[in-house]
Amino acid sequence: MRIHLKIKRYHPEWDREPQLKDYYLDIRSDLTVLETLIQLKEEEEGGLALRYSCRSAICGSCTMRINGSEKLACQTSVREEYERFEALKIEPLSNAPVIKDLVVDQAPFWGKLGEVSPWLHSEILKETPADQAGFPKEAFNEFHNVDACIMCGACASACNSLEVSSGFMGPAALAKAYRFVADPREAGQEKKKRLRALVEPNGIWDCVRCNFCVEVCPKDVKPMEAIIRLRREALKAGLGDSPAGRHITAFVNIVKKEGRLNEGLQPLKMLWKSPEKLLQVFPLALKMWVRGKLPFIWHWPIKGIRSIRKIFKVRGF
Ligand code: SF4
Ligand code: SF4
Ligand code: FES
Repeated sequence: MRIHLKIKRYHPEWDREPQLKDYYLDIRSDLTVLETLIQLKEEEEGGLALRYSCRSAICGSCTMRINGSEKLACQTSVREEYERFEALKIEPLSNAPVIKDLVVDQAPFWGKLGEVSPWLHSEILKETPADQAGFPKEAFNEFHNVDACIMCGACASACNSLEVSSGFMGPAALAKAYRFVADPREAGQEKKKRLRALVEPNGIWDCVRCNFCVEVCPKDVKPMEAIIRLRREALKAGLGDSPAGRHITAFVNIVKKEGRLNEGLQPLKMLWKSPEKLLQVFPLALKMWVRGKLPFIWHWPIKGIRSIRKIFKVRGF
């Protein structure tokens, strides 16, 4: 099979900007993208820089953007990509500085993982295999997804929030943080300490729930779900006192009281503790009021509010 590859190349000493270069290659139709790139390197482009190690979807080092989304090159079939996209466009990961060609600097990614201190803080007194065997299996089910992470960085590259805010801790680090908050061996005060750090700016409330991290993860870690669970844990621990935390509690309380969202009251309940933010939205509120678009903040509960409240009661709110 003859293929046309477009590869984003960048040499730090020669190029101002990365640029797409075209290559044509005869390959066996059962090759993976990684095998194809290795063949290209051996036959034509010895200088092409890429990372790989295990070639078996284990080490996570060969992640790159293939036809616009993050994939492990060693488990992506060239034939399937060609059938789907009629092309093979290969780029380095996003949201990380490019060192050369397809190799990016993963130091910020690893630094953020380090920030969540991914180990148990509580002293484990009983560590013999027999004691560990007594550890309830269902407790592992809580976080087994996260333990499947191979630190490939695909989620961080796809993350919308990281794209606009490089300080955001990112999906992999937050998923790892959840793993230790969910671990029953971690003491209550340590969990709370972790949660307190995670509700700070750049933490759990900065995720915009785009779901991209879930879509691209090759190991079904579902980082966004872990972040949602962390948010629930933070609210349960009484750490919802931020605009984003108050957004959720205000939403729930308003719907419970009135049976529907009150768009006039919601921002007030969110921002009443931050007068400077209220002042920022005031000009917009004034414009809306002048044009008759500002919803009234006082509503009667809807007909059938009792049924709505019953739903809340059943769900434990
Ligand atoms: S869901 Fe959140 S963490 Fe995941 S990619 Fe989107 S913004 Fe990033
Ligand atoms: S969560 Fe998934 S995508 Fe993110 S680093 Fe781990 S394995 Fe890769
Ligand atoms: S080379 Fe290890 S995951 Fe692809």
